[in-house]
Amino acid sequence: MKGTIRVFPDRETLAFAAAHYFLSVGQAAIMHTGRFMVVLSGGSTPRLLFQRLAVPHLQDALEWERVHIFWGDERCVLPDAPESNFRMARETLIDYLPIPEANVHRFMTELPPKEAALKYVGELQTLFGLSAGSPPPSFDLVLLGLGDDGHTASLFPGTDVLDEREQWVTALYVEKLAAWRVTLTPAVLNASKDVLFLVSGREKAKVVKEVLCGVRRPEDLPAQLIQPVSNNLHWFIDSPAAEELFLRSKERRWQG
Ligand code: 6PG
Repeated sequence: MKGTIRVFPDRETLAFAAAHYFLSVGQAAIMHTGRFMVVLSGGSTPRLLFQRLAVPHLQDALEWERVHIFWGDERCVLPDAPESNFRMARETLIDYLPIPEANVHRFMTELPPKEAALKYVGELQTLFGLSAGSPPPSFDLVLLGLGDDGHTASLFPGTDVLDEREQWVTALYVEKLAAWRVTLTPAVLNASKDVLFLVSGREKAKVVKEVLCGVRRPEDLPAQLIQPVSNNLHWFIDSPAAEELFLRSKERRWQG
C-alpha cells in the first residue's frame, strides 16, 4: 500500500492535525480550481474533526462559500434521524459555517435506496460536468473511517459492491446491520486527489494492523481496496489504534 501513516498521541491531537490538513487541502483546491470538493465520512473520529473546524476563529481560514460537501456513504434513514451521517455533519459543522445550502450535497435518503444512489450519480455528473460513461469524478479530499470489521464508507466485507467496477454510487443491504446503505464505490474513492483515513481507539488496533500490514484480502478487509490513483493516501491514527502496528518493535526493544 502506498501512502503515509502518522500516529498521534490521542484522538484530540489527531482531530487537530486533521483540521489543519483539511484546511490546507481546501485552500490549495480553492486557489487552483475556485472550489473545494470534499467528501465527509460518518463515525466518531470525523465528528471530532468537524467540531475542531467549526470554531469561530476558523471562520476565515477557508472561503467556506466555495466549499462543496459530499458524503462517502449514508445510512438509509431520514435526514433528521439520529443515525444520519448528514445530520451529524450538519449539527457539528455545517450549521456553524457559512456554507451555502446549495453546496451541501447529501444523499436523498427519503427516496428508496436505489433511487437515492441514482440521484447522487446525477448530482455528481452535474457538478463535475460529466456524463454517463465518463471516468469518475475526482474529489479534492475524501475523509474515511475504518470499522473494526475492516469496512470503510459502506464497503462492508463480503458485499457485492466490492466488485463494482462501473457504478460510481450504489445502494446495498448490509445483512449484519439489517439495514440499507448508500455508498460511493472504490472506483470513485480511488479517483480522488487525496484520501485521508481517520482512525482512533484501542478497539481498532487489530484491524489497523491487518489492513496496513497484513496479507491483502480486500473481500474481508474492504479498506484495503482504497488506493487512490494519485497515491495521496494518508492514515492519521491515534496511538491506541496504532498500538499493534508497533508491537514488534516494542517487543524487540523489551527483549534487547
Ligand atoms: C458510517 C461510516 C463508517 C465509519 C466507520 C468508522 O457511516 O458508518 O461512514 O465507514 O467511518 O465505521 O466509524 P468510527 O469512527 O465511529 O469508528
